[in-house]
Amino acid sequence: MNSDAKRLDDPAAITRGDPHDARQALADFPRQCRAAAGLRPEPAPRAERPPLVVAAGMGGSAAGGDVLAACGAERLPVPIVVHRGYGLPPAASGRALVIASSYSGGTAEVLSAVDTAVERGLAVVAITSGGALRERAARHGIPTALLPGGLMPRMALGYLLFPAVAALRAVGLDVAGEPEVAEAVSIVEELAPALVPERPAGDNEAKRLALAIGDRLPAIYGGPTTGAVAYRWKTDIEENAKAFALSGVLPEMNHNTIEAWRAPRASEMHLVVLREHDEPPPIARRFAVMRELVGDAAGGVSECWARGRGRLARLLSLAYLGQWTSYYLALLRGVDPWTVPLLDELKRRVGIEAASDGVLD
Ligand code: PA5
Repeated sequence: MNSDAKRLDDPAAITRGDPHDARQALADFPRQCRAAAGLRPEPAPRAERPPLVVAAGMGGSAAGGDVLAACGAERLPVPIVVHRGYGLPPAASGRALVIASSYSGGTAEVLSAVDTAVERGLAVVAITSGGALRERAARHGIPTALLPGGLMPRMALGYLLFPAVAALRAVGLDVAGEPEVAEAVSIVEELAPALVPERPAGDNEAKRLALAIGDRLPAIYGGPTTGAVAYRWKTDIEENAKAFALSGVLPEMNHNTIEAWRAPRASEMHLVVLREHDEPPPIARRFAVMRELVGDAAGGVSECWARGRGRLARLLSLAYLGQWTSYYLALLRGVDPWTVPLLDELKRRVGIEAASDGVLD
């Protein structure tokens, strides 16, 4: 066993590398999902089925919207648009429903989306642990799923996702039925013991992935549905491991990015593909041919397979694997997986400027 693998199996080294105990938040993720599956926005959202759903959020709080949209795309008669930014798109009008997610409740872009929704008279659901979003929601009588605080937003995916599923069900949009929600929770419960720090590297998929990636630049690609999670892996690696990562989706990347996978630069990259066992044959074929074409040039290749039958379970199982992989990458790179000092400083400075411009309350 090499020294990196030993480090990931050494409880003292893990405690030193993770002074804020992010591992506990990740190990608790199945409990979070079970609790979140019982959360409902209060009061219940209005019952009319909307023609459009806009999931407004930033960073970790947008990830629930991505999973929602990926699940919804397959079965809903209406689109779910994930909106990352200020205000709302013009299409958000009339009977559209806005799901405003901000774990902290203080994110300027999401507050601005809520203000726009209120101005336009749109139905809104808020998902938050407090802050200005909770206050805004109370002021305007917006149905709110109130989440427990104390986590980093990106580690609160269960809390951000499941109440949104319930909110959509309440307005007649069944992104995932009760059995699929139950399956998704069971799958992460089963997966957790296989990924926690106590499970040795030789038998821990997340540790093995982090070791395989090592110092290389990870490039994560998913298929038409798992692509939403590929992006989540990228952002988890950026925030937890403070490292660059790329992500993309097949088949689109076959039409552009594939040309960049050439020696010698490709040897500095690690290709990670997020797969499903029953992919449509054209997608399975594309993954296989892509590997034939670029696998030798890449510094390494890893395939990760979704668990479960339902879409929700599959996406959540891959997202959970990505969370742990980014966690172990953080330990290998000697950075604290919890803190995000640049992100915090940027929010602080932009907040000060916005307040002095009279943009914020
Ligand atoms: O995970 C993180 O810490 C960030 O990506 C945040 O989610 C992002 O900055 C938005 O903050 P919030 O989720 O509190 O709205």
